[in-house]
Amino acid sequence: MKFLKILSMIIGIIVLGILLFLGYIWMFLPNVGDAPDIKVDITPERVERGKYLAHHVAVCIDCHATRDWGKFAIPPVAKTDGKGGEVFDQKLGFPGTYYSTNITPYELKKWTDGEIYRAIVAGVSRDGRALFPVMPHPNYGRMSKEDIYSIIAYLRTMKSLINDVPTSRSDFPYQIAINYLPKKPNHQEIPPKSDKVKYGEYLANASICMYCHTPNDKGRPIKEKAYSGGFEFPLPTGGIVRSANLTQDKATGIGRWTQEEFIDRFKAYKSSVYTAPKVAANTFNTFMPWTMYADMNEEDLIAIYEYLKTIKPIFNKVNKFSMATAKK
Ligand code: HEC
Ligand code: HEC
Repeated sequence: MKFLKILSMIIGIIVLGILLFLGYIWMFLPNVGDAPDIKVDITPERVERGKYLAHHVAVCIDCHATRDWGKFAIPPVAKTDGKGGEVFDQKLGFPGTYYSTNITPYELKKWTDGEIYRAIVAGVSRDGRALFPVMPHPNYGRMSKEDIYSIIAYLRTMKSLINDVPTSRSDFPYQIAINYLPKKPNHQEIPPKSDKVKYGEYLANASICMYCHTPNDKGRPIKEKAYSGGFEFPLPTGGIVRSANLTQDKATGIGRWTQEEFIDRFKAYKSSVYTAPKVAANTFNTFMPWTMYADMNEEDLIAIYEYLKTIKPIFNKVNKFSMATAKK
């Protein structure tokens, strides 16, 4: 009897502990604070800068448009910019079903500037729900505040597209864990362009190169292996594409690439010269948004190149495409 009493007490304590823990998460997380009370003035300079960032640097439109899976580099379908509705789910390796949202005025007219700002830089939705970092909000939280305001100004001027997107859902236990992921922003100033390496580092962060080019261990990027590639993307059209090694390793990375080769590689996809060809199922395609980055200013691409020159070589031979299933 005594034993049963102790056992029920232990169970009671465990249950209480779990309830307190869930209560804590429910009450206090995500703890990034209220959306700030800001009003972003929409100036032509901001709209232009915001458009540049959203399309060619932070590549918001890569995810928040309808993607054409049948074409090379999975470009956005014309006239769907900002429409959202793309699915990021288990088939792509995510622990839930996440929908990119409609970021045109059709949806965002309900949002204050502060709410949009908080979603982009801290990963919290209008209703306080934690967003899953499919969208790399920690990267955007390291951009300058002014750049984020420019993006907001641009979003306000986009063509409204009618599209109601379902709410994302995480699988168990991620709907609990996800509440730990929103983070307060840690804004940086834009370094002077004369400091190519620092300026390039700023742009590489904003254009989320590391997000795709760093291998992962159960969803966490392996910091020591940053930029060494091999991150696996299952292609819905069949096969797996793996990100390239962008470190300075001469044999397996881009250590031998000249600045010209690097720039030419991007420029080959410029909208003025390139039309993405159709790609057959079960053949090589890529998640690298080549067509979006291709219209980045040459000066900015050069700065990214100079920054990548400072990444220490890591030997990692990547097989960019195979039909084999992903290693788990
Ligand atoms: C890699 C894909 C990706 C990129 C790049 C991306 N997003 Fe997102 N975004 C998403 C997904 C997916 C969600 C929904 C996440 C969720 O519901 O948990 C989201 C959510 C949002 C939300 C919140 C909407 C809501 O209803 O809560 C806003 C606002 C937003 N994104 C704007 C942007 C802007 C602006 C950029 C560029 C600076 C950007 N996104 C870049 C995929 C992306
Ligand atoms: C959404 C994921 C994603 C993002 C973001 C991304 N890449 Fe990639 N990248 C890939 C994948 C996958 C490949 C391999 C397939 C290919 O060559 O397209 C690749 C290939 C490359 C290559 C070709 C290397 C080679 O050996 O041929 C370069 C260069 C490159 N990326 C640079 C960058 C830079 C610079 C950035 C940031 C401005 C960036 N990538 C952002 C996914 C990404």
